Amino acid sequence: MADTCLGTERKWRMVFCTSRPSRYSAVLNTLRQTFTITVTGSGPAATAAIETAPDVVIIEDQLIGGNGAWLAQQARMVGQGRSNTVVMVGHQNAATTRLLEEGMIDAAFSDDLSAGEFLQQFWRVFGTGEEDSRISLISKPAARVMDDGRKMYSRLEEMVIDGGIGREGRMVVAATADSVVSLADDPSVAPMLHQLRGHHDSTFAHSLRVGILMASFGRAIGVPDDQLRLMAETGLLHDVGKLKIPLSVLAKPGRLTEEERREIRLHPEIGAQLVIEGYSDLPDLVTAVRHHHEKLDGSGYPDGQAYGEIHEMSLCTAVVDVYSALTDQRDYKQAMDQEDAFEIMDSLSGHHLEPRLYKRFRELVMDGRHVGAAAR
Ligand SMILES: [Fe+2]
Ligand SMILES: [Fe+2]
Repeated sequence: MADTCLGTERKWRMVFCTSRPSRYSAVLNTLRQTFTITVTGSGPAATAAIETAPDVVIIEDQLIGGNGAWLAQQARMVGQGRSNTVVMVGHQNAATTRLLEEGMIDAAFSDDLSAGEFLQQFWRVFGTGEEDSRISLISKPAARVMDDGRKMYSRLEEMVIDGGIGREGRMVVAATADSVVSLADDPSVAPMLHQLRGHHDSTFAHSLRVGILMASFGRAIGVPDDQLRLMAETGLLHDVGKLKIPLSVLAKPGRLTEEERREIRLHPEIGAQLVIEGYSDLPDLVTAVRHHHEKLDGSGYPDGQAYGEIHEMSLCTAVVDVYSALTDQRDYKQAMDQEDAFEIMDSLSGHHLEPRLYKRFRELVMDGRHVGAAAR
C-alpha cells in the first residue's frame, strides 16, 4: 500500500490509458488520494508515460487508435526488476486470458463495473497483499493476527455463500479471536490498529479492528479471560452480514440512495441469521450481531430496542463500532482524528451510546496505554 498511509508523503504513480476518462471520473477522483495519475490515451503519449516506470498501469483493451495488449507488454517490460501492477480493463477474451497466463497483466477487469466494484477489485490486486505483509512486520502477535484473520475472512466469505457459519467456521473465528486476545495488551496493538484504519479491504479491516478494540477494552476494564475471547469473536463477527451486501453498494463512493441505505441496514439481521446456528450456545454474541445498531432512545435498527432492552454486549459493540467507523479511512471518506471522533461521540452519549460504557472507553483511549494510539 502507499507510503502515504504509513505517514510519509510519497505518493505512488499511476498511468491510466483510456479513451474515455469521463467514464472513470469517480474512480480517478478516489485514486488521486493515493496516486499521482497520468491519464493518457494511446500512441506515443501512452508509451512515453509508461516508460517512466509507474507503480501501476491501467489499460483499456480497446483504446481508440491503439493496442491495449501491446501497451500492457510494454508496461510489464518497463517494470521488470521492480514490482509494478498492470491491469487490463475490457471484454474478457482469449487474448486477455493469454496475457494473464503469460504474466503480462496482473488482472483483467470487466468494463461494466461500477466505480465501487472497480475500486474494490483494484485494491485487492494492488494493495491487500502488500498491506497485510507490512502490518505483519509490526510484531509477531500482529503477524499472527493478520495471518489468522485472513484465513478466517476468506473462510467466512465462502461460508456466507453456503448460508451460515458452521462448526469449522467457528473454529477458524475462535483461532483468530485467540490471537486477538493475545495481542490485546501487547505494545504493538496501537500501531497495528493505526495501520488497519486505511486498509482497503474495508469490511475485513473494520471487523479486525473492532475485534481487537473489543478485546483491548475488555482487558482494560477487567473482563475475565474466557469472556475476552467472546468479546473478540463478537467484534470479528458483528458485521458478517455485510458479506452478503453487494460491493457496488458497500463500497459506493458518493451518496447512497434510500434503497441502498435500506439494503445496508439489513446487515445486522442477515448477520444474526448467519451465526445463529453455529453460536446457539453463545446468545450474547448472536444478540450483539443483531443489535449493534440499536440506540438507547429506541431509534436504532433492526428492532428499535431501547435502554433496558439492549444487551450489554450489544452496547459495548456499539461504542467500539462507532469509534472504529468514525476513525476508519475509506474510499468515500477521510479518517477522522481521535478528538473529532470523540466530539461526535460525546453528542451521541445518552441517546445512542450507553454513557457509562462510552465514558470508560473514552478514558481508556485518551489515556493511551491500552487502545490509545488507535486513531492517531
Ligand atoms: Fe454494523
Ligand atoms: Fe461495524
